[in-house]
Amino acid sequence: MKYARETLKDVEGYVPGEQPKMPGIIKLNTNENPYPPSPRVLQAIQEISTEMVRKYPDPVSLRLREAIAEKYGVEGPDWVIVGNGMDDVLSMAVRAFVDPGDTIMSPYPTYTLYETLAQLHGAKMQYVDLDGEFQLSEQFYSTKARMCFITRPNAPSGVLEGQSAMERLCREFDGPVFIDEAYADFAEDNCLGFPRAFENAIVGRTFSKSYSLCGLRLGFAIARPELVREMMKIKDSYNVNAVAQAAGLAALADTEHFRACTSRIRKNREWLTQALEGMGFRVPPSQTNFVLAQWTGAPSAREIFDALRARAIIVRYFDAPRLRDALRITVGSEREIEALIDALRAILAGEDAALGAVAEA
Ligand SMILES: Cc1ncc(COP(=O)(O)O)c(C=O)c1O
Repeated sequence: MKYARETLKDVEGYVPGEQPKMPGIIKLNTNENPYPPSPRVLQAIQEISTEMVRKYPDPVSLRLREAIAEKYGVEGPDWVIVGNGMDDVLSMAVRAFVDPGDTIMSPYPTYTLYETLAQLHGAKMQYVDLDGEFQLSEQFYSTKARMCFITRPNAPSGVLEGQSAMERLCREFDGPVFIDEAYADFAEDNCLGFPRAFENAIVGRTFSKSYSLCGLRLGFAIARPELVREMMKIKDSYNVNAVAQAAGLAALADTEHFRACTSRIRKNREWLTQALEGMGFRVPPSQTNFVLAQWTGAPSAREIFDALRARAIIVRYFDAPRLRDALRITVGSEREIEALIDALRAILAGEDAALGAVAEA
């Protein structure tokens, strides 16, 4: 395409997990929350007035940022930036802190959007492999780049990097360290205290997973006001719509619903992990709402993925180094987990007449 920017020519663009519309499928491929959001959120949406829709929303989402600051224990709204999903915040961070031609670094494997954002921006992506247990390797600390993205707990492994490793990284890395905590509400600790301790720490969060609001698109980051100011310069004028602002406020207010929902998912994660291990999968310890089920036998992970799909159960398969022998499976509802376990048992017992034929279906 002759009109495209030079940097875009070889860029494929980010490919999100599929959102199939067939009724009755069990969808365990994009780490959505299986349970509904707080009823208060649905009520807040129903109460959206004509005026709120007719007029532009608050361009700086002040009330929501105030509520986030209070809830997450930072001094005030100037420590918080909100976005149209955390993906929007990630994009703002790249555009605020990285010049085209610079290098962005990340451990591998990780959330693939970072690489796409780097490519779109004309920046280079430098990966440093995680070790065999999906933990940071020594080489990570000595690698230099303009900015660093680290998902904690990690996706797609689910593994939680140690706090002291994160502290060392923030101390030694000369540039902003974006700690992507999309899944931290399912983990035993987090880095929310880091922005106060380290001038280069940015902690990203989303309402998609633990608050069950993927469809609304709402995310935020907490960082020192100097960093937030730079990102605010870049943001779209009205990057968070009025409905999302109202819904976010309502979600934050319902602590009870949040606690019940996240602890149910954690409990189900342990159940799912044990069941998978009982079938012979290796499952790195997950602190998220998904597990990485590693499988090296026959049938192959890819064949199991296809066989599950033929049974209307969709999980995520990455055709990428270190991930080809694995399935990433979202922790679904009790009913979904039961169906998944039954299906896997049948597939591994060879009950599918011919896997090849199923894969083609
Ligand atoms: C590691 C990670 N970061 C960020 C996001 C994006 O979150 P949001 O839905 O708020 O854009 C995701 C979504 O799956 C994710 O897995």
